[in-house]
Amino acid sequence: MEGLKLSKATKFFLISAIFMASAMFATADNGEVDSYWENLAASAEARAKAAYNPNPVATTNSFNKDVHRILEEDQAEPEIELELESGSESNYTRRSLKQKYKGPCLATNPIDRCWRCRANWASDRKRLATCVKGFASGTTGGAAGRFYVVTDPTDKDVINPKKGTLRWGVIQKEPLWITFAHDMIIMLSQELMISSNKTIDGRGANVRIAYGAQITIQFAHNVIIHNIHIHDIKPAIGGMVRDSTDHYGIRGESDGDGITIFGSTNVWIDHVSMSNCADGLIDVVQRSTAITISNGHYTRHNDVMLFGASDSYSEDQYMQVTLAFNHFGRGLVQRMPRCRWGFFHVVNNDYTHWLMYAVGGSKNPTIISQGNRYIAPPNLSAKEVTKREYASEGEWKNWVWKSQGDLLRNGANFTQSGGQNERKYTKEQFFKAKPGTFVTRLTRFSGTLDCQVGKKC
Ligand SMILES: *[C@@H]1O[C@H](CO)[C@@H](O)[C@H](O)[C@H]1NC(C)=O
Ligand SMILES: *[C@@H]1O[C@H](CO)[C@@H](O)[C@H](O)[C@H]1NC(C)=O
Ligand SMILES: *[C@@H]1O[C@H](CO)[C@@H](O)[C@H](O)[C@H]1NC(C)=O
Ligand SMILES: *[C@@H]1O[C@H](CO)[C@@H](O)[C@H](O)[C@H]1NC(C)=O
Repeated sequence: MEGLKLSKATKFFLISAIFMASAMFATADNGEVDSYWENLAASAEARAKAAYNPNPVATTNSFNKDVHRILEEDQAEPEIELELESGSESNYTRRSLKQKYKGPCLATNPIDRCWRCRANWASDRKRLATCVKGFASGTTGGAAGRFYVVTDPTDKDVINPKKGTLRWGVIQKEPLWITFAHDMIIMLSQELMISSNKTIDGRGANVRIAYGAQITIQFAHNVIIHNIHIHDIKPAIGGMVRDSTDHYGIRGESDGDGITIFGSTNVWIDHVSMSNCADGLIDVVQRSTAITISNGHYTRHNDVMLFGASDSYSEDQYMQVTLAFNHFGRGLVQRMPRCRWGFFHVVNNDYTHWLMYAVGGSKNPTIISQGNRYIAPPNLSAKEVTKREYASEGEWKNWVWKSQGDLLRNGANFTQSGGQNERKYTKEQFFKAKPGTFVTRLTRFSGTLDCQVGKKC
């Protein structure tokens, strides 16, 4: 809820006030007064300002050009065209064909085309780090580091995690590329604090982070989360949690989001399947920027994605997010995403279900919606894709919310705005996305993939 979200935005400051008031609560291993999070916050601010792109339209355009290029390549391959035809827009009722695709490996969008249909993906895992598009371009995760294999699904000691656990891997100072030895369900007993320069790569195993606490990326940079299931995440009461090999400290209660990205830069979340968490599925807050969320499949959830938690936190004007090739599916209610302040490229996603609205926000966010498919629900009062909050029309008519090439089905309508501010962008500046009619194809393999070693994924 909004109230909860606002309190989350201030939580860090409350906790840092506690740090300052009493070193008792904040235990650096060297016993010194804990200025740990304050230092990280300061370097995160510098990184966000450096990562901020003053020409975001260049990023949207190069993204769209890449999609055009891939589809042109395909058109030269009649067999691929034939495979894909069955999933085409002519039947937009539901996504029944997505279920079990048995044909040859097809990578239908430029991110997947970079790595998926290569039989050697398992011996060339770090290739993935060259595949990100959109605002998180350049994110390499743990590519500069060693591999670390999670063998132990338990999470018993969050202050001194055992080697072999996921928690041990994510708190290391060095870059790490983290993989999983076998299928596992990881029930986190406290927030999982992912530090900088990490990749969590679930390919080759069925990895579920579920039934426990959430994933948090706080004041970190350069993180990739790939091919894992995240569901049924619950609030955790908080307590002492280690976030680095040389630091642990007190954490307040966590909300039970799937993933919280807090004051972090260069984060890429790709091919996740997420559902039914206590709060949001993915929250991007507190001056996080250079984020791409792609190829995900989301179901059974109310508040899906929150990009910016507070109308009064103007630092979120640095936030730049690409949301692409995702499938927003069954049982979703609202916020796909709900945006504040920043610049959001919502492109080539498939919205097949929402109960209240799909894309919304407050505080003058710029939303460039291109080439999505929006299928409205039967409810006559919920046909509008968009929702503006806490603003009169006099105010929101100047927010730049553009819809270009979106496919509006079942009575869906997208209320555009821009007014005076539209002058910031001229129409010619925007390179058109591939239209919404291509979305079934582009999102055909959203969600986690069942990758087998030695075979194309
Ligand atoms: C779409 O596919 C479904 C199931 O395959 C079928 O029942 C329906 O008639 C099709 N609709 C159109 C418009 O082709
Ligand atoms: C992450 O890696 C980059 C590039 O090697 C390095 O400059 C940076 O200091 C690393 N971050 C941390 C927190 O270790
Ligand atoms: C229809 O949509 C409106 C607007 O979001 C909502 O308030 C109402 O509860 C919905 N009705 C049903 C039956 O879902
Ligand atoms: C869009 O949908 C909403 C809610 O379903 C409806 O009230 C509104 O009149 C529609 N707008 C247009 C322009 O059709």
